[in-house]
Amino acid sequence: MCVVVAMCAAGGATLRPEPLAVRTVAAAQADETVTIDGEKYPNPLRMNDGTAVTAAQWGNSRRAELLADFRQNVYGQSLPTPTAQTFEVTPTDFPGVTRKKITITVTGPQGTGGFAVDLFVPKTGGKPRGTFLLIDHRGQVGDDPGQTSGYAPISTITEAGYAFATFDAGQVAPDDSGSYRSGMINLFHPSDRELPDDAGRTISAWAWGASRAMDYLQTDPDIDPTKVAVIGHSRSGKAALWAGAQDTRFAAVITNDSGSTGTKLARRGDGGVGAETVARINDSFPHWFPQTYKAYDDRVDSLPVDQHELLALVAPRRIVVASATDDANADPEGEFLSYLAAAPVYQLYGLGDTGLPSTTWPPATDQGFRGPAMSYHLRSGGHGLTATDWGIYLKGDLFSRDAGAPGAR
Ligand code: GCU
Repeated sequence: MCVVVAMCAAGGATLRPEPLAVRTVAAAQADETVTIDGEKYPNPLRMNDGTAVTAAQWGNSRRAELLADFRQNVYGQSLPTPTAQTFEVTPTDFPGVTRKKITITVTGPQGTGGFAVDLFVPKTGGKPRGTFLLIDHRGQVGDDPGQTSGYAPISTITEAGYAFATFDAGQVAPDDSGSYRSGMINLFHPSDRELPDDAGRTISAWAWGASRAMDYLQTDPDIDPTKVAVIGHSRSGKAALWAGAQDTRFAAVITNDSGSTGTKLARRGDGGVGAETVARINDSFPHWFPQTYKAYDDRVDSLPVDQHELLALVAPRRIVVASATDDANADPEGEFLSYLAAAPVYQLYGLGDTGLPSTTWPPATDQGFRGPAMSYHLRSGGHGLTATDWGIYLKGDLFSRDAGAPGAR
C-alpha cells in the first residue's frame, strides 16, 4: 500500500490524503524495538531502514539483512563453498540397519582435506521418517549401531524409523584455541596469516561442516533430503542453529541447551542466575567467534541483532528449542523468552503458535509443546542431551505440520 502512495506521487496523479492512505503509511512504521521481559530488543519485523516487514519482504530481503548482521557481528563470515568436493561411501549391513561410513573430501584454494560422517539407516522397506544430523563436538558417538547412550541413542532412533547421521566436529575445526584452524579453515585461509577480524571461527566452521554433510545427504538414495533435521547440544547447539539459519535445506533445527550465543538472549546478560554473558564466552572460548563479536563484550545493547532473530531465521521451517531447569549457565528463562519472541516471524506464515499453553515461565517440565512449526521443551535436571530429550524429539512429529502426535503437545 505504501508503494501505491509513492507511485501515485511519482506519476503526477492526484494524491488525495485519504484516510486509508494515512492509515497504511502509519502502519508501515514498525517499532524499532520489541519489549521482552520489560527490556528493549531489536525488532525482527523491521527492516534496517525502518520499514515494516511483510511476509514477502521477510524471505526476499529481511532474512538477508539479518544473516549479514549475524555474519558480520556474531558468528563471522562462513567458509565458502568448496571448489571441489567428493564423497566416498562404505556401507555395512547390520540387523535392521545399514551403516554407511562416508569420507567427505573438500578442496579449497589452500589445499585438500576431509572429515568423516557416519550414517545409520533403518531397514524400513521405504525411506526413513526423517534424518537427524548430530554435530558431535564431543567426538564420542562412535560407529556402533547398537549404541544406546543418552547423547546419541542410535538404536532407539533407528528403531523409531528415523535415520541418524553424525560427524566429529573436531575434524572440521578442533575445539582448541591453538589448533582450531588446522581442520577445514586453513583449506580456505593461508595458514601463515591472521584470519580477518570478521572471519568465522570454530562455531561457524562446524555449521559449515553440517552443510557439507547435508550436501552428501542430498545425494543418498536412501534418504529423503526434504526431511533432515540438524541437531546439536550446547556448543554444537549454537552451531546447529547457525547452520539451520543459513542453510534452508534443513527442514528442522534442534538446539539443545545452547545457551549463550545460541538460544539465550544476549541482552539478558547473566539473566540474574549467573548465566554466561557475551564477555565471558569470548574470554573462555576465544576461538569460537570472530574478533568482531568481541567488540560487544561490554556493550551488548549495541549488537544490531539478538538471538530471537536467529531462531526466527529458521522460519517457516521447524525450530525446536530445548532447555533444562538446572542449566543456569544457559539461562533457561532467557531461552524460553527468545523462543516466544521468534513467534511473530513465524506468524507471518500463519505458523506463530508456539504450542505453549501460556507465556508464563516456567512451563511444565519434561513435556513437548508443539505448534505447527515451533517446538519447545524444558527438561528437569542439568545441562545435557539425554534420553528424555531424545524421547521428546522422537515423539515430536518434527517433520510434519500436522497438529502433532499424541503426547507431543
Ligand atoms: C560451556 C560453555 C557453554 C557451552 C558448554 C558446552 O559451559 O560455557 O557456552 O554451551 O560449555 O558446550 O557444553
